[in-house]
Amino acid sequence: NAMLQWQRTGFHFQPQKNWMNDPNGPVYYKGWYHLFYQYNPDGAIWGNKIAWGHAVSRDLVHWRHLPLAMVPDQWYDINGVWTGSATTLPDGRIAMLYTGSTNESVQVQCLAVPSDPADPLLTNWTKYEGNPVLLPPPAIGPKDFRDPTTAWFDPSDRTWRIVIGSKDPHHAGIAVTYRTKDFVHFDLLPGLLHRVEGTGMWECIDFYPVGTRGKGSENGIDMSDAISKNGVVGDVVHVMKASMDDDRHDYYALGHYDAAANAWTPLEPERDVGIGLRYDWGKFYASKTFYDPAKRRRVLWGWVGETDSERADVAKGWASLQSIPRTVLFDTKTGTNLLQWPVEEVDTLRTNSTDLSGITIDHGSVFPLNLHRATQLDIVAEFEVDRHAVMALNEADVGYNCSTSGGAASRGALGPFGLLVLADKHLHEQTAVYFYVAKGLDGGLTTHFCQDESRSSSANDIVKRVVGSALPVLDGETLSLRVLVDHSIVETFAQGGRSTATSRVYPTEAIYANAGVYLFNNATAARVTAKTLVVHEMDSSYNHDYL
Ligand code: FRU
Repeated sequence: NAMLQWQRTGFHFQPQKNWMNDPNGPVYYKGWYHLFYQYNPDGAIWGNKIAWGHAVSRDLVHWRHLPLAMVPDQWYDINGVWTGSATTLPDGRIAMLYTGSTNESVQVQCLAVPSDPADPLLTNWTKYEGNPVLLPPPAIGPKDFRDPTTAWFDPSDRTWRIVIGSKDPHHAGIAVTYRTKDFVHFDLLPGLLHRVEGTGMWECIDFYPVGTRGKGSENGIDMSDAISKNGVVGDVVHVMKASMDDDRHDYYALGHYDAAANAWTPLEPERDVGIGLRYDWGKFYASKTFYDPAKRRRVLWGWVGETDSERADVAKGWASLQSIPRTVLFDTKTGTNLLQWPVEEVDTLRTNSTDLSGITIDHGSVFPLNLHRATQLDIVAEFEVDRHAVMALNEADVGYNCSTSGGAASRGALGPFGLLVLADKHLHEQTAVYFYVAKGLDGGLTTHFCQDESRSSSANDIVKRVVGSALPVLDGETLSLRVLVDHSIVETFAQGGRSTATSRVYPTEAIYANAGVYLFNNATAARVTAKTLVVHEMDSSYNHDYL
C-alpha cells in the first residue's frame, strides 16, 4: 500500500516486509555485527511459523539483509524458532541457544552453530543433531520455559551458566539457572537466581554486569570477565532485566550477584525487577544486550512494535521496528539507574544542522522552528526554567503523573515545556516531548519527563497514551532531551539517558514536507530558555550502497 510508505523509517532497523518481533542473538563476529530477529515469512502478523531473520552491519547503522538463518523444520521447533542468545566461546566459536516450540507446543531449548565458522556473515546455521538440549523441568509449565540468555563462564567450577525465565504456580516471575560444560548437557542449579511475587511470566531475561557501585565503568563489561576466579563478584553491580508478559514492558533492577550461592539480590528491594525501573516508558519490549568487544561497550536492542491495528499492519505489509541500538552504562552520579544512549555511530548520519540555541519562550507560547525537512531528525535540547519564577512559587503540582495527566495541553505552573515533533502547521497532529516540574512545600523539585501521543495522529484505530515518569535531576544540571524522529517513531532520551520513551506515531497530515518541529512552553508561571537547541537532519541508512 503506497499510501502508507511514509511510515517506513530512514534509520531504524526493519525488514523489507512482514512481521518482526524480538531481537535475537546479537553478536560481533569477525568484523561484523549480527542481528537476528523473530520473523514471520508469511505475513505482517505474528504466527506459528516464526523463523530467524538475519542482517549484518559494519557499524550498527547500515544493514545488509541476509537470508533467513533458521526456519521451523524439526519436530522440536516446528511451531516456531523462538528467541535466543549467542555466546562467544574463548576460542571464537559461537554457540547459539534458542527456544523451540515443539510439535506439541512444548517450549524446549535448542543449540545451533554456524555451519561455516570461516564465513564472517554466518549465513548458514546447523542445528545440533541431539536437539533439544533442555526440556522444561518437572515444576515448570511446558509453555512457561523460554528465551535462554547468553552464557557466562564461572571459573570456580569451569562451567557455563545460562538463565531461563518462567513463572511459578503462585504467579511469581522466576529466573532459573543451568550449568553446562558443552552446551549439550545441562544441570539445573538448586534454588532460583531470583523470584518476584506477582509479576507473572518473565520473558527474555537479560543478565549482565555494569561496573562497580562507586566507580561504574567507562566501558561495557563481558559477563564472563566480571567473575573472579573464586566465584565472588565483589562489589560489581549486575543488571537483571525481564520482559513482563503481563503488562508488556521491560523492567530492570540493579543488584549483586553471588555466583557461589546462585543468587542475585536487588540493591533496593522497592525497585526490584518488575516493580521498579523500566528501560523505556513507551513501546519497547523483549530487549537484549550484547557485549561488543570491538568498542568495549554493551549494546541494547529492543523490539518496538506497532500501536495501530492489525488490519493496518496487514494493509501496509509490515509490522515492527527495532530501537536504535543503545549503549548501556551504570549512572554513577545517581547510583540508582542505567544510562542508555544511541550508539555513537548514529551521529554519522547527521547532515544539515540548525543551531537555535539560546531561544527563550514565554509561558503559554509555541515557537515554530525553521527547518528544511523534519521527518528524520536527531534533536539535542537543553532547557532552563526561569529561576526567579521557580523561587516565587510556594508549591506547584505536587503529585503530578505523566500517564494520568491531560498531557501536553494541561497547564501547570512549571510545565509542560519542550518540543512538538511530527507536527503539521495547524498543530492538529503533534507528538509532544516535554518536562513538567513540580515543587513541594519543602521547596524540593520533582521533574517529570513525558511523551504525549494523544494527538500524534488523527486516525482513530491507534493506541495513544501519555507515557513517562519522574526522573532524577541533580544539582546544577539542566534538563536535557535527545529526540530521534524517524517518520513513524519518536525515540527520546531524557537527562543523558536516565529515562527513555519510545512512541510509534501515525500522522496523516504531518508527513513529508508537512511535518514540522515547534518549541512550546505551556507553563503558566515561568519562562523557559532552550540553552541548547540543535536540530540535525538525518540521512537514511538504506540509501547507501555501503556494504
Ligand atoms: C517475546 C516472545 C518470547 C518468545 C518469542 C516468540 O516477545 O514471546 O518469549 O520466545 O517472543 O516469538
